[in-house]
Amino acid sequence: MVEIAPSILAADFARLGDQIRAVEAGGAALIHCDVMDGHFVPNISIGVPVVASVRKITKLPLDVHLMIENPDAYVPAFAEAGANVILVQQEACIHLDRTLNLIREHGAKPGVVLNPATPLESIEEVLDLVDAVLIMSVNPGFGGQSFIPRSLGRFRRMEETRRRRGLDFVIEVDGGITLENIEEVVRAGVRRIVVGSSIFHTPDPTAATRAMLERATHATMIRV
Ligand code: DX5
Ligand code: ZN
Repeated sequence: MVEIAPSILAADFARLGDQIRAVEAGGAALIHCDVMDGHFVPNISIGVPVVASVRKITKLPLDVHLMIENPDAYVPAFAEAGANVILVQQEACIHLDRTLNLIREHGAKPGVVLNPATPLESIEEVLDLVDAVLIMSVNPGFGGQSFIPRSLGRFRRMEETRRRRGLDFVIEVDGGITLENIEEVVRAGVRRIVVGSSIFHTPDPTAATRAMLERATHATMIRV
């Protein structure tokens, strides 16, 4: 199974409810919420109140991506606001093992995120603690950037490690996904796909979500 997680960073925040209903109708599996603090990344986006509002208008799981310093201080509030998956950046966590356990203790699924320059090996020791490994395919901070092609090799290597160790976390991609590259990332082992601009910056986010899902699902059926 492959999942599309539309990123509301690219949505029109004045019409957020409608925009979320539109992607639900197109088959979105989760709603991806990008939280930026202006320190870990050079941009500021949304926080706990928006996540809590989104929680009220959708039954889909919320995939909350914390691009913030000191995530431990905010994990309880995001869990309370209704986050189902809380993703923390490896680079922001000095005590990553502790942070991932903290997320689970608060009733959410822990995920870890790697920036494009962060070695996959840096999370070897915590792979058995996570439900998701998100490999960034852009440098975080902004929507609408171009996919970094060398990410494909990173997805393949992570998928090999996952199989070798018999683990069942989902491999997730975030950044620069389009209808042109979605099949490649699926063939490289990705099963959860975050999409911002290619869904919300189109005239019909329902149709765009559906097209992404169809193409991604088709790619799971092709053996290479
Ligand atoms: C980047 C964010 C992404 C972003 C993806 O810092 O984590 O979730 O919204 O947007 P697109 O799909 O436009 O690259
Ligand atoms: Zn994100």
